[in-house]
Amino acid sequence: MAESKLTVAIQKNGRLNDESLRLLLPDGLATKTDQQLYCNNPDLPIDIIFVRDDDIPLLVAEEVCDLGIVGHNVLLERKIEFESSVTRRIKKLEIIEYLGFGNCRLSFAVPEDFSYTNLISLNDCRIATSYPYLVKKFLVENDLYANIIYLSGSVEIAPRLNIADIICDLVVTGSTLQQNNLREVYSILSSEAILFRSATLSVKKQEILNLWLQQLGREGESNA
Ligand code: PRP
Ligand code: ZN
Repeated sequence: MAESKLTVAIQKNGRLNDESLRLLLPDGLATKTDQQLYCNNPDLPIDIIFVRDDDIPLLVAEEVCDLGIVGHNVLLERKIEFESSVTRRIKKLEIIEYLGFGNCRLSFAVPEDFSYTNLISLNDCRIATSYPYLVKKFLVENDLYANIIYLSGSVEIAPRLNIADIICDLVVTGSTLQQNNLREVYSILSSEAILFRSATLSVKKQEILNLWLQQLGREGESNA
């Protein structure tokens, strides 16, 4: 990628894609088609690549991309997952700004007929989630023990399939829970989209970033 431009990784499809593009591209330039995985407009100081959101923290940590936009929940999950691995650079990712869209919470939810009184009710349960590291951390911090069942999506179906007793998944409006006869009982994290950066940008890229943030009308300058 060119040294005179920043590369930004954003979600290819999903909840954050539209708002991310609106933030990054001036009106009228958001011409991406579903199949296009990059956007390199010569008039912009940024190149955009479209990837799975789960991959974005590592792409930025490994300096394949300079900046990323993900839900804070995704960044936190990846930070725990890779904190003790060789990919230590993931610790050094820096949040530039909380973006005020993509708001959601990560919550435990139980089937309507599950008898829940407090967190202790979760002991010995099988919990389906796409966020095993955040859930594990929460359980340990609260002296709870449960079995975590990882599913990458459609987590709400797990109790019906009897592969889990309860779930811990993202809730926005609550309609997916409702449609699957699940009841939210405890939220462990509130999240929104964040713009974050690699800690090791060159001086040149740092300058481009600060100028670009000013052009976008974003407030704080980003310092290494
Ligand atoms: C997300 C999330 C919940 C749902 C929450 O799923 O994982 O399932 O949206 O939104 P709601 O509270 O407004 O119903 P997504 O559509 O991203 O699908 P996936 O998790 O199956 O990939
Ligand atoms: Zn889901």
